[in-house]
Amino acid sequence: MWIFHGADSSTRLWPTWTRWCVCYAAAALCVLCSPVRTHDACPASCACARDSGTVTCRDGGDSEVPGDVPDWTTTLILVGRNISTLQRGAFMSNGTELDMTTLSLSYNGIRAIEPYAFLGLPRLHLLDLSHNQLESISARAFHGLPELRSLYLNDSLLPSAAAQLSNALSAQSLRNLHRLELAGNRLKSIPLVTLDSYNLHALVLVNNSIESIGWENVTNLYQLKRIRVYLSSNPFRCNCGLGAFYYWLKNSSQCPDAGRLLCSEPEAKRGVPVEKLRGEDVDCMTENLEAVSYVFLGLVLALIGVVFLMVLYLNRGGIKRWLNNIREACRDHMEVYHYRYEQDSDPRLANVAV
Ligand SMILES: *[C@@H]1O[C@H](CO)[C@@H](O)[C@H](O)[C@H]1NC(C)=O
Ligand SMILES: *[C@@H]1O[C@H](CO)[C@@H](O)[C@H](O)[C@H]1NC(C)=O
Ligand SMILES: *[C@@H]1O[C@H](CO)[C@@H](O)[C@H](O)[C@H]1NC(C)=O
Ligand SMILES: *[C@@H]1O[C@H](CO)[C@@H](O)[C@H](O)[C@H]1NC(C)=O
Ligand SMILES: *[C@@H]1O[C@H](CO)[C@@H](O)[C@H](O)[C@H]1NC(C)=O
Ligand SMILES: *[C@@H]1O[C@H](CO)[C@@H](O)[C@H](O)[C@H]1NC(C)=O
Repeated sequence: MWIFHGADSSTRLWPTWTRWCVCYAAAALCVLCSPVRTHDACPASCACARDSGTVTCRDGGDSEVPGDVPDWTTTLILVGRNISTLQRGAFMSNGTELDMTTLSLSYNGIRAIEPYAFLGLPRLHLLDLSHNQLESISARAFHGLPELRSLYLNDSLLPSAAAQLSNALSAQSLRNLHRLELAGNRLKSIPLVTLDSYNLHALVLVNNSIESIGWENVTNLYQLKRIRVYLSSNPFRCNCGLGAFYYWLKNSSQCPDAGRLLCSEPEAKRGVPVEKLRGEDVDCMTENLEAVSYVFLGLVLALIGVVFLMVLYLNRGGIKRWLNNIREACRDHMEVYHYRYEQDSDPRLANVAV
């Protein structure tokens, strides 16, 4: 500051070239003496390992992403910080891009991811957002990550964020994604609109709330031979309707943990491995046939009943006569009996007499 003042006050006295000299000297002095901001220093409350390019920042109590990450960082690990919101360009240091390839943000209490939060990380390969409490994820949260291959979101999504996930995971922004891990998020279905526009090799959906996978999705999966879907620890509903999924499990070998999928409903099949079900357990045709056959039996019985009633009705004259005859016969019989009874009204006497 003072140097420029000096230069100003001497404007009239010194020739132009001298003034320039003074300016350059001052600038050089400034650069040399300025409190080093060379993008090389380790940020406060972080540990830096320059050999491996790793910066690890733990439990800073900081609610901020460190803004002064060294240029050489290839792996940034933040753990146990209270970040709460990832803002646009949260990892842009001074508006410049970083060559980072791995970013781990698990256990940071992140609740919201704003649009373009990961701007400035064009070479990012792996992003771990596991074990946060995400309430909202912008549809443009993952824009600007053309190289992203692995995205981990285990135990991280609250229901509101889970509902926004399929928008955020649009293929347009994540076309190189190979591995997507979504364990422990109470998901009820595959949170992707399509699968064929990604380059997915592994989709991990273990420990969620998936009861079944419909035939549309199964058809989609069959077409993507390279994809592997992990599905253990989901509450499968093993009734008719699981059919397409059941045959996909048996047929496709696209589910590496198929042997560990268990039924949770109906009660009678709880704990039974899905693979051990019989074809007829999951076949709606059999179930329907059974229902149909019961209905049919009912109808036949009803028909027989109706025919019987009709026969009765048509023969009502004959039946009346017949009933009369019976009644007459009975009365005759009774009369005879009555007469006899009156005759030997004292059987003892009769016996004595005999
Ligand atoms: C995290 O930060 C928020 C505000 O940003 C605050 O309300 C909350 O108490 C903090 N939690 C912890 C565990 O520090
Ligand atoms: C970083 O930004 C500060 C001001 O915010 C600026 O003084 C400095 O020159 C910038 N450094 C780089 C390397 O862009
Ligand atoms: C969850 O994410 C971690 C990375 O933080 C990963 O190592 C792990 O295999 C993932 N999957 C499960 C099922 O926990
Ligand atoms: C399964 O997910 C729930 C959250 O949905 C989590 O609390 C639990 O720890 C997970 N279980 C395992 C074995 O990871
Ligand atoms: C799964 O099927 C539903 C319709 O049942 C559809 O909306 C969704 O896009 C499908 N997802 C995939 C990944 O095929
Ligand atoms: C494969 O699935 C079809 C139904 O889509 C089924 O008819 C066929 O029997 C299955 N093949 C095997 C080997 O399970």
